Amino acid sequence: VKIYADGAVLDDMLSAYQSGFVSGFTTNPSLMKKAGVTDYVAFAQEVVEKIPDLPLSFEVFADDFETMEKEAEKIHAFGPNVFIKIPITNTKGESSIPLIRKLEAKGYSLNVTAILTIEQVEATVEALNPEVENIVSVFAGRIADTGRDPIPYMKKSVAICRAKKGANLLWASSRELFNVYEADRLGVDIITCTPEIIGKLKKVGKPLEQVSLDTVKAFNQDIQALGYS
Ligand code: E4P
Repeated sequence: VKIYADGAVLDDMLSAYQSGFVSGFTTNPSLMKKAGVTDYVAFAQEVVEKIPDLPLSFEVFADDFETMEKEAEKIHAFGPNVFIKIPITNTKGESSIPLIRKLEAKGYSLNVTAILTIEQVEATVEALNPEVENIVSVFAGRIADTGRDPIPYMKKSVAICRAKKGANLLWASSRELFNVYEADRLGVDIITCTPEIIGKLKKVGKPLEQVSLDTVKAFNQDIQALGYS
């Protein structure tokens, strides 16, 4: 599985880029808000300039399809490594599939996002142009947040995406490092991870006795910070 970095803090993105651990990047409006991005275009241009050779996903902001299409044109013009993120519906629950078809006909690479159901995966993959590389972002973590096991959803999504050339399945909203292993086992193409999860890659394979010791040491440091010893 390829690991992407999920976030909109430029410094985190650049250190992930330099680490060599990641093969691409995803952002979304909530991550930009959290990162305090106030000038979307300036941010995107800087990212494209500093990361010119890995896939980058930038999302449209509009809620009506006409404006979304105009934004998609602008995002497409950011650079050849840019995927345009289109949510599968607008906030009224109206399907984005007609817009997706239109953009696919132009040969644009899309990252169809906020997908949670198998019906949405099927409709998206059906609308994709096999001559173009695209990303299908299924929000496994948000499926899990409803108390449902995301594994069967991801398994079915793998089968649906495999049947279409250029349809790359992305495990979105990862919640823990182990999701990387689950995604890999299922044959998911990409998993996007927060900087916290990427940081944990360094701990992979660490002896559990050592982790136990590190845990007790951390507790002990906190005890001392509290002045209990
Ligand atoms: C990635 O493209 C998604 O926008 C992101 O993984 C969503 O994560 P969240 O569901 O934790 O907000």
